[in-house]
Amino acid sequence: MPATSVIGLQWGDEAKGKVVDLLTEQHEIVVRYQGGANAGHTVVANGQTYKLSLIPSGIFRPEVRCVVAAGVVIHPATLLAEVENLKSRGVYVGSNLMVSERAHVIFPWHIEEDRLFNDACTGGEAIGTTLRGIGPCYRDKAGRSFAIRLGDLYRPGIADRIAQVAEFKRKTLAGLGAHEAAASLDPDGIYKEYAGYAERLQPFVGDTTDFLLDACENEKRILLEGAQGALLDIDHGTFPFVTASNSSGVGVSSGSGVPGRYVTKVIGVVKAYSTRVGGGPFPTEQDNETGQHIRQRGNEYGTVTRRPRRCGWFDAVAVRYTTRLSGVDALAVMLLDVLSELPELRICVAYEWKGKTTTRFPAHVDELREVQPVYETLPGWQQEISHVRRVRDLPLSARAYLDRIASLVGRPIEIVSVGPDREQTIFAGQ
Ligand code: IMP
Repeated sequence: MPATSVIGLQWGDEAKGKVVDLLTEQHEIVVRYQGGANAGHTVVANGQTYKLSLIPSGIFRPEVRCVVAAGVVIHPATLLAEVENLKSRGVYVGSNLMVSERAHVIFPWHIEEDRLFNDACTGGEAIGTTLRGIGPCYRDKAGRSFAIRLGDLYRPGIADRIAQVAEFKRKTLAGLGAHEAAASLDPDGIYKEYAGYAERLQPFVGDTTDFLLDACENEKRILLEGAQGALLDIDHGTFPFVTASNSSGVGVSSGSGVPGRYVTKVIGVVKAYSTRVGGGPFPTEQDNETGQHIRQRGNEYGTVTRRPRRCGWFDAVAVRYTTRLSGVDALAVMLLDVLSELPELRICVAYEWKGKTTTRFPAHVDELREVQPVYETLPGWQQEISHVRRVRDLPLSARAYLDRIASLVGRPIEIVSVGPDREQTIFAGQ
């Protein structure tokens, strides 16, 4: 049985959690494979609302195996807090959760470095990270010398290794003038703290790569849950205003260890409009009443940081690019109900740059800053649609809006979401 991946096609927060939740019942294994506690999703299960950032949302179905794979960066305290919170609310967490021993661990120095470097040397505009230590941890992974993986915490000599790395980090931070941060790093205290985490996490830690390869070969049904969105991809996104992992479809295999040949279906998730948190260009941003309408109706505030999200029109140039990049087969269009009551809607169909019209998404952030969106205007709809369950019951203008998105992006729409609950979903063909 093939693996399916779910990828956000914008700048994150596309409501992928709901799509994953809907698909989980058709799968035996759900996998998180990149990013870390910078991601946050809200899942409504059994009438209760849960916020998860590291544990896959499949956890609400005890028969589903949840895997946190090698490409994720783990903040142990956050992971344990999630486990405890779920358990205290009666959700089973035990043999259904497996965390990769290859995953890299976030230490206090990564969080200090994130604070220090977030707005350094990016040309006057901060990256606006989530300050969860994600970038610095991936930097150490790529640099190797200071990297510590989850499996390392169980090996002899770990106390010395943590002491060595902490000492180096302390010197580096002090050398950069961050004396308070440097002083806060107590190698012995950090070792003891992390040894405690390691002990509590031990029942979950294992070789997820081997587990997933066996699962592929045994034709298990695997669901791969992307975090963030493809425009935040470290290699193909709006660099440097991106996250530190491959958050587009190209990251599925490297992060999970599941070879590309097993991923036979890719669902690309988009909002019916666009949002972005943090810095970086956003051609269709509406810093006006329209943006406010979307923010209020869509409750567009960050799950992790509560920062108000920047809001704007749907950008078909950007989404067509990330759809191609991620090998998307079909789209899920989320939060369509948020657009109700707007008198007219706009879709960006091309960019104008230096007197020329193009549908190519620029590789350089400066070019993206300079483009002018070319809009097509479509009529809005004034009625509520959150109760609608069939495409044919949507207002004509909502159907025309969806059809235009599908034709501009070049993929069919399989799922339309008109509210946060599972039931508030329209499956194409109904
Ligand atoms: P970092 O991932 O914390 O390093 O942040 C880098 C950029 O990615 C910032 O613009 C963040 O706001 C953005 N980002 C990281 N995770 C998410 C997410 O889950 N949703 C939306 N934006 C995110």
